[in-house]
Amino acid sequence: MIGFIGAGSMATAMARGWGGPVLASDSGSGRAAALVEELGGEAFRDNAALAAAAEVLVLAHRPGQLREIAASVDAAGKMVISVLGPTTTGELRAAYPESTVVRTMPNTAVQMRRGVIAVAEGGEAATELLSGLGRVVVLPEHQMNLATATSGVMPAYIALVAEAAIDASMCYGLPEREATEMFLHTLAGTAELLLSRGGDTIAARREVASPGESTVRGVAMLERRGLRSAFNDAARAVLERLEQPYPDPATR
Ligand SMILES: NC(=O)c1ccc[n+]([C@@H]2O[C@H](COP(=O)([O-])OP(=O)(O)OC[C@H]3O[C@@H](n4cnc5c(N)ncnc54)[C@H](OP(=O)(O)O)[C@@H]3O)[C@@H](O)[C@H]2O)c1
Repeated sequence: MIGFIGAGSMATAMARGWGGPVLASDSGSGRAAALVEELGGEAFRDNAALAAAAEVLVLAHRPGQLREIAASVDAAGKMVISVLGPTTTGELRAAYPESTVVRTMPNTAVQMRRGVIAVAEGGEAATELLSGLGRVVVLPEHQMNLATATSGVMPAYIALVAEAAIDASMCYGLPEREATEMFLHTLAGTAELLLSRGGDTIAARREVASPGESTVRGVAMLERRGLRSAFNDAARAVLERLEQPYPDPATR
């Protein structure tokens, strides 16, 4: 069985995506028990007992807890999949020297099995398991922080964009239910369209646009209001955070 150390948002999303019973621990909130109540399996308060019972371990605690938690468990000979944001494969190997470590960056859409899971090169052993959660993309280690900026945080951005677009339609009179349904289906349909065209965003935009008419005017306004530079600045903010330290509670 898969054992999650940490039973927060990401552990819950991955466990739901995989389905089936899980082993899970938390620091006392009861979220592990809630997850087990939903999916079956067993909740642990003791990470060592969880690690002994699990076939594969998923590190789904906070990045700063790596050394403290690794020191308390024996995962020798097991696969250890990390979702710990900026934690490098080298740091994982140092913490779990006798395990097969895999650095990943999933996003919360894994719970729909439509996630994106970036895997650092060398972690291909986990590809088959992770592909049950969505699209696996293998990246060089030095590009893994870009995975956080590109897909890890993106469900939050997309949700914000959806909220802004729906609010705008409501502001000019469309009822919330219709505005929400229309926007979200447009989002899903446009994603399918773009995927089918190899990501050709310009062609998809041109097809909606007539000279001087509504689409080009709307798009020009989004550009003028800084849509591109807002995304660019957001990516920089994410990367800057990932380069800052994540203190280990054991050393504080
Ligand atoms: N959320 C995302 O979209 C996302 C995306 C990609 C990667 N990640 C990564 O996933 C990791 C978890 O993020 P999250 O958003 O799921 O955070 P979260 O909701 O705060 O969950 C953290 C979990 O770790 C548990 N925990 C803390 N100390 C523990 C200990 N000593 N032993 C066992 N469990 C312990 C917490 O227990 P309690 O429930 O008792 O507090 C909680 O269940 C982070 O490293 C983050 O970088 C998150």
